Amino acid sequence: MKILGIETSCDETAVAVVEDGSRVLQNIIYSQIDLHAETSGVVPEVAAREHILKIIPALEQLDLDDIDAIAVTQGPGLISSLLTGTVTASTLGLILKKPVIPVNHIHGHIYANWLERDKIEFPVVILTVSGGHNELILMRGHSDFEVIGETLDDAAGEAFDKVARMLELGYPGGPAISQAAEDGDPTKYDLPRAWLDKDSFNFSFSGLKSAVLRLVQAGDFDKNDMAASFQEAVTDVLSKKLSMAAEKFDAKEVHLAGGVSANGRLRELAKERIGDRIFRFPEKIEYCTDNAAMIAAAGYFLQEKDVEWKNVSAKANF
Ligand code: KG4
Ligand code: ZN
Repeated sequence: MKILGIETSCDETAVAVVEDGSRVLQNIIYSQIDLHAETSGVVPEVAAREHILKIIPALEQLDLDDIDAIAVTQGPGLISSLLTGTVTASTLGLILKKPVIPVNHIHGHIYANWLERDKIEFPVVILTVSGGHNELILMRGHSDFEVIGETLDDAAGEAFDKVARMLELGYPGGPAISQAAEDGDPTKYDLPRAWLDKDSFNFSFSGLKSAVLRLVQAGDFDKNDMAASFQEAVTDVLSKKLSMAAEKFDAKEVHLAGGVSANGRLRELAKERIGDRIFRFPEKIEYCTDNAAMIAAAGYFLQEKDVEWKNVSAKANF
């Protein structure tokens, strides 16, 4: 079964064709990063205009002759950006007479780990971390998602982006910080880690962000050491809670997903801490950040299933 995926929830205009939820036949991503670097963040109106300009040129590159269905990101995301994808999908569905499957963006990130893979064994514990969301999810089967932890304030990617801004490292912050951290000492600054209650799988990064801001405002700090110490604090908490969850729910597999899963230190610490369990992160970097192949995969595995979308994200706005 071939599914056309469409993703326009934030700042990537992406389309893809995926067969049987894992074989990526075509994957087109128009990134708006250069545009948003000028403002060190996404301006919704600017993103929306760019999606309108790019969605047709992106679709024109695909072979849509024998697709069976269309999967589209319905939310959460920027409403003015989402509209381009959903209107395009509905229109194409009408013209091609194909069903349109609405997909939750976070489910999309989760299914990025099914791309170019044969078999995944349940139960899976997934840490899905990006700019807009930050959840620990227990998955006992397709469409059986339980949110076991989430952020009480900022998402990890959001913290990376804001700290990069404080350190004047550019946008997006995640890759910039991990690059600066390579030449820094992660033990130089003793930054706070919010463990919360002993058994809690929730996260909080606002205290860490404020601690960095105070040191930056006080002046006389080393950028690389600060980037390394900040990255260490975030990845320490993320990987520790992920391994605790894997242990508690006796996960067969442990996955990282979302933009922050591209982070090398997070991958390293997670692998180290989860022991013998199968460890995966998306096969390619472009499957970590926003893309449409993951949306097509989610559409394939979740079609006809009754999924309670709103339970998955604390920040769902639809
Ligand atoms: O999944 P994504 O493309 O968009 C959202 O759904 O939010 O994730 C983007 C986020 C940004 O906050 C970016 O700074 C972060 O992922 N990111 C990283 C890395 N690459 C991207 N964070 C840490 N280390 C990285 N290497
Ligand atoms: Zn995303």
